[in-house]
Amino acid sequence: MQLQPLAPVLLLLSHMVLMAAGEPISTSIAVGMAAVLTGLLASYQGVLYYLHECCREEWISFNKSVIVGATGFLYPLGKKIYNYFRETCNDDWIAFNTTGLEKDLERKLFGQHIASRVVLKGVTGFMNNKSPKKPLVLSLHGSTGTGKNFVSQLIADNIYKKGMTSNYVHLFTSTAHFPHPSQIDTYKVQLQQWIKGNVSSCPRSLFVFDEMDKMPPGLIDSIKPYLEYYDNLEGVSYRHAIFIFLSNAGGQNISQVALDFWLKGKDREEIQLKDLEAALSLEVFNNKNSGFWHTSLIDKNLVDFFIPFLPLERRHVRACALAEMEAQGLPLDEEIANQVADDMIYSPKAERVFASKGCKTTRSKLDYYT
Ligand SMILES: Nc1ncnc2c1ncn2[C@@H]1O[C@H](COP(=O)(O)OP(=O)(O)OP(=O)(O)O)[C@@H](O)[C@H]1O
Ligand SMILES: [Mg+2]
Repeated sequence: MQLQPLAPVLLLLSHMVLMAAGEPISTSIAVGMAAVLTGLLASYQGVLYYLHECCREEWISFNKSVIVGATGFLYPLGKKIYNYFRETCNDDWIAFNTTGLEKDLERKLFGQHIASRVVLKGVTGFMNNKSPKKPLVLSLHGSTGTGKNFVSQLIADNIYKKGMTSNYVHLFTSTAHFPHPSQIDTYKVQLQQWIKGNVSSCPRSLFVFDEMDKMPPGLIDSIKPYLEYYDNLEGVSYRHAIFIFLSNAGGQNISQVALDFWLKGKDREEIQLKDLEAALSLEVFNNKNSGFWHTSLIDKNLVDFFIPFLPLERRHVRACALAEMEAQGLPLDEEIANQVADDMIYSPKAERVFASKGCKTTRSKLDYYT
């Protein structure tokens, strides 16, 4: 096999030897050339032998060392690249940005001075506490389109590098995840397993329960042990987790308080948490239809903050429209923002103060005008 590439050389050599036999004058030259070629051939074979792989010790060990060397170099490199892109439960991926949250709440959230303040205080205090005694439990209340999901997203954005798309952020929507009240026992087990499994793999997990008022009655009770002041449960500590409940429950009460302030000619910013908090938790707790609470979560004080979301006014809808234009990279058009705000339905019918759907339909209205 090794001699195959030498065939043309051999052919040339034999041809020259024949030629030498036929022409005596050039015999000595031919013999000399043949000797040179033979020498070349010998060394060529040596070279070929050196370079050509065969099952010699040096080749096998050479290949082995190349493979080992390459693997030793490539494997950690590959692992580094893989880890660089793969989200892990560490500081590279989970790091609280206090000023980021503060700025986001200040610049992006409109008309929610109470929610803004309480969220910042609650989340910052909890995230900066190295050994919290229990998980953080926030309950966000308010009528539709006032920014409850939006605030959950801002919180996630400032804790997880991947925001709401993080593997450690879990969003449950009652109508989608728990649609059949008859299957509550199955849901209870699944929910417990899901929370336990996820907190085991990452203690800094965020669980958002949307549409709490549509959750089958009693289901939320199943997660009560995880919200308690336990050091750990079956070897799992839940103290670094965050639970956020979203609901419309209490929205009407909040709107009434906001309307009273408006009717009295008071500034909206004068409304304080204490004006809303008691009425809010009572209404939620007493709302038998919601199946939401009337659980021990409230009487056991497991909810750290009840956060009211005020109904939005026309100026807030305008601000939402402008923010949406900016987000879509459109030129800011005050006229269109006015049109979007004008298109909304406002309540109560007589006063027309609050946008019935808040900022919820701003985007679709904007699509219509742009
Ligand atoms: N207060 C607000 N400030 C800025 N943008 C807002 C505000 N409220 C709502 N938005 C905008 O409207 C969109 C819809 O709001 P969001 O989903 O947060 O409402 P919600 O309170 O969760 O309503 P629902 O009770 O119907 O679920 C948000 O994604 C955001 O763009
Ligand atoms: Mg919502």
